[in-house]
Amino acid sequence: MHLMGFLSNLRACLEGTFKGGRHAAGSDAEANAADSYDLFFELRTLQIATNFFSDLNQLGHGGFGPVFKGLMPNGQEVAVKKLSVDSRQGLREFINEVKLLLKIQHKNLVTLLGCCAEGPEKMLVYEYLPNKSLDYFLFDKMKSASLDWTMRFRIVTGVARGLLYLHEEAPERIIHRDIKASNILLDEQLNPKISDFGLARLFPGEDTHVNTFRISGTHGYMAPEYAMHGYLSVKTDVFSFGVLVLEIVSGRKNHDSRHGAEKADLLSYTWTLYQDRKALEVVDSSLIKCNRDEAAMCIQLGLLCCQQSIADRPDMNSVHLMLSSESFTLPKPGKPAIQGRIGRWTTTSTTAFTNTNTNTNTNTNTNASSSSNTGISKISGGNSFVEDYSRNSISYSSIDEGR
Ligand SMILES: Nc1ncnc2c1ncn2[C@@H]1O[C@H](COP(=O)(O)OP(=O)(O)O)[C@@H](O)[C@H]1O
Ligand SMILES: [Mg+2]
Repeated sequence: MHLMGFLSNLRACLEGTFKGGRHAAGSDAEANAADSYDLFFELRTLQIATNFFSDLNQLGHGGFGPVFKGLMPNGQEVAVKKLSVDSRQGLREFINEVKLLLKIQHKNLVTLLGCCAEGPEKMLVYEYLPNKSLDYFLFDKMKSASLDWTMRFRIVTGVARGLLYLHEEAPERIIHRDIKASNILLDEQLNPKISDFGLARLFPGEDTHVNTFRISGTHGYMAPEYAMHGYLSVKTDVFSFGVLVLEIVSGRKNHDSRHGAEKADLLSYTWTLYQDRKALEVVDSSLIKCNRDEAAMCIQLGLLCCQQSIADRPDMNSVHLMLSSESFTLPKPGKPAIQGRIGRWTTTSTTAFTNTNTNTNTNTNTNASSSSNTGISKISGGNSFVEDYSRNSISYSSIDEGR
């Protein structure tokens, strides 16, 4: 299999079927000149790189489709995401979005290399991250020991940095919508890189993508105003980030019924402990050493990010400041949004408008005060539907890397 793969890659190389990806470009001028050429990977190249999308190469399967590991003729490892959900987006729009996403670059974001739009499926090609995603480490008792406190704190600050870039510094504001442990990939040094940013832009205006996010994402990460009413803002991401921080500190999933009814929901359990001044009890017991001040700050920050009122959640600028400044005194959190986020719920919203850059004053029962730059939008909820919260996510990942 290995030899065959190598030979076919070699053949592809000799035949010149390997076309592009941005890594092929030299200078900026060159990159611009070869703009559209450079953006595309040929289907044939990706087929060969992934052994024809073989099961052995499959890294996982999320709400948008499967992800495959590929080896390019020049030796570069890539991850190819097949978008099997029909976006009903035209090719031109798809390419424009990919062009925009190629400009979104930061050390805490997974690099998009290009796309493939031949054949029935559209595909995105990313850099391959050898350590896969944070959930592999965090929620596996054998592996989580290798994530010591220093690393965990570095992951928290790295994700905060990446989100700050998406919200405030990128060429266009990106609300991620699906921040969760499996969307935090880790490089060789276990530095965090946010993946799947901008994916929502490829599925505009359709109920499908909202449903897809709801299905692929973990409901426990979703801010209640988004889960129930489809109201979207940068603070939606802040909420998910808060849940993620609590998971990183505690080394457990945000909802885990194995812990018993009282502790199953991480957010409400942490809040109970916090009120009893026992917050540090939530810290992962498998951590041999832990900086208690940093851990206490992370817990408080996690709770702050998960406040019911959108206005009470900090923005990523403040989060970044809180994490990087030693003298910063964090505000005391009130009760976080425990309702509206878990349990069985329905959505009844019918109005469809999805422009995430539109500031819309909304009339919600969630105390949603839309600040001028919050960019709150309402997403079409489509038909009412009920979902089962006992599952964290329908996405799964293969344990073996297939190589
Ligand atoms: N660039 C990548 N490098 C390595 N592994 C990846 C990459 N992208 C995705 N994966 C793996 O594939 C799995 C499935 O990805 P995805 O389709 O985004 O679903 P989800 O994020 O819901 O898990 C991820 O959990 C991750 O472990
Ligand atoms: Mg993902």
